[in-house]
Amino acid sequence: MMEKKKVWVVNGPNLNLLGTREPEIYGHETLKDLEEQLTQQFIEQVEFTFFQSNYEGQLIDWLQQSVGHADLVLLNPAAYTHTSLALADALAAITTPVIEVHISNPASRQDLRRVSLTAPFCIASIAGFGLNSYQFALSAWLNQGS
Ligand code: DQA
Repeated sequence: MMEKKKVWVVNGPNLNLLGTREPEIYGHETLKDLEEQLTQQFIEQVEFTFFQSNYEGQLIDWLQQSVGHADLVLLNPAAYTHTSLALADALAAITTPVIEVHISNPASRQDLRRVSLTAPFCIASIAGFGLNSYQFALSAWLNQGS
């Protein structure tokens, strides 16, 4: 059997409120639902570690710590996508491959959300598929080359 890939799922500010936060944009499912769905769906292939923080520095610490411990990071930097040079610097500094994930499609929202400071340092980005964005990102990464 193939060894399981170690995937860290890192969610940024306000994503702990999924399910109740602006459900017309982010849906009714919770962060726990997302974590359970991913675990179930990829049970054969992936060993997950889930992180969520509302604090920029904590997200940076986790990204730095992913080196040598994670094969992939799925990162939803939430609003820090559009504001955080520090998070962008952390991504530039690490060797762990990172995919940027968004639940909504920020490009179709306010102008401010069209800019991603973090995406240039990620291997790929996916947005706009609701919670399935995480699943699609991971499926694409696992299936590449096959
Ligand atoms: C988000 C999009 C961001 O613009 C926003 O600040 C979020 C969530 C998304 O997943 O759609 O908090 O990253």
